[in-house]
Amino acid sequence: MKKIKHTTTFTIYTNLKELSDGDNKLMHRAMQIRDTAYAPYSNFNVGAAILLQNDEIITGSNQENAAYPSGMCAERVAIYSAGALFPNIPILKIAISANSLNKLVDQPVGPCGSCRQAIAEYEFKQESPIELLFMGETGKIVKATSLKDLLPLSFDKSFL
Ligand code: THU
Repeated sequence: MKKIKHTTTFTIYTNLKELSDGDNKLMHRAMQIRDTAYAPYSNFNVGAAILLQNDEIITGSNQENAAYPSGMCAERVAIYSAGALFPNIPILKIAISANSLNKLVDQPVGPCGSCRQAIAEYEFKQESPIELLFMGETGKIVKATSLKDLLPLSFDKSFL
């Protein structure tokens, strides 16, 4: 038996002004598209903006459903759209922002487990890291340089 230690480094930005111009612009696109969320059940709106290697930006927002599990998170709306529109263009970054009609979301909101798995699929497919930037409505922004940092020991097609 042996124990292994897994360490991860995230960058924490105090506010949007600390981001590079490009990251700031991408996060603003995520905040903008967040307003298109269809979230009448949770009142929790999420926006995601994906930067592709060809400089295209693909956005998505969460889409809920009266049959709750049929709804879809913003990150997957965006990444599946990127996969459909630009199947062969690598994804460089994804910016995520969330707010709630019920309370102020001032902590960074990381992608849910299913979205991490979906993003991992594309990272594995393109064989290059996808950077993630995520925040609430205001406050700190977390940057991870690869999805792997959010999903260690993950399942991928190499097992199949
Ligand atoms: N949601 C996202 O869009 N992304 C996440 O990573 C977490 C959760 C959405 C799903 C649902 O519409 C609402 O937030 C509350 O869970």
